[in-house]
Amino acid sequence: MLQLENVSIMMGRHMVLRDVSLRARPGTLTAIVGPNGSGKTTLLRAITGEVAYTGKVTLNGVDVARAKAWQLAAIRAVMAQETQLAFPFTVLEVVGLGLSMGENAGSADLPQRALAEVDLLHHAARNYQDLSGGERQRVQLARALVQVWNPVTTAGARWLFLDEPVASLDLGHQLQVMRLARRFVDAGGGVVAVMHDLNLSAMFCDQLALLAGGGLVAAGPPESVLTDGLLSSAYDCQIRTNRLPNTGPWLLPQAVAC
Ligand SMILES: Nc1ncnc2c1ncn2[C@@H]1O[C@H](COP(=O)(O)OP(=O)(O)OP(=O)(O)O)[C@@H](O)[C@H]1O
Ligand SMILES: [Mg+2]
Repeated sequence: MLQLENVSIMMGRHMVLRDVSLRARPGTLTAIVGPNGSGKTTLLRAITGEVAYTGKVTLNGVDVARAKAWQLAAIRAVMAQETQLAFPFTVLEVVGLGLSMGENAGSADLPQRALAEVDLLHHAARNYQDLSGGERQRVQLARALVQVWNPVTTAGARWLFLDEPVASLDLGHQLQVMRLARRFVDAGGGVVAVMHDLNLSAMFCDQLALLAGGGLVAAGPPESVLTDGLLSSAYDCQIRTNRLPNTGPWLLPQAVAC
């Protein structure tokens, strides 16, 4: 279980996140959505223990602020919004960085298997820096995947924390990555992903957490969060949602006027 209680973050004199409380269960996919600058990345960085906060974050009962890096590395993997690499690693070497942690250290073929999952095995020997933006993003996802390859271990569920995992991807690879995240949670793991695409979020996620101005506006199943009122207010834009026939809780946000 991931649990946040009254998490607040000051950056300089700026309150970037205010009193956010949220829960996510293993076996579920949560999307953090909201406008640019609303605090999504900052919230994810609090969850992953990369930024100081007040309040409390626990992951599988472990207090994230007090946990050792190796303890967290064994139960969760993180894909950042942007990743810079200073050295000319090959694609396979980048994915292999995930291997050095946790119990996967001996599983030498995992990088290839993870690369196949993101449709990039054919680029394994290439220089990572020569790849396109979307390809690099998929390599970073493969690296995170290697780290928590088994969604559940004897120590409990494992977690993937992904900051905009489909932001640079074409339609086909967006669906591939969302299906991959879905398989991970269906096998008992947990995923929290920052997303801008509300349709994809509605299609694949169990829970949406809508941030605006550093505050949590709403959290719950997609149909309870993707309402005209909540979206129009959060995005400061008049938005109409349509429920398409025969597609379950799938909503189409349509900007009417901004
Ligand atoms: N280190 C920092 N120092 C000062 N302000 C910061 C810092 N990091 C983030 N902020 C501010 O906090 C706010 C939230 O930033 P954050 O990166 O969490 O937004 P976001 O919701 O992820 O946006 P985007 O959709 O553009 O990625 C922004 O106004 C940003 O300028
Ligand atoms: Mg961000």
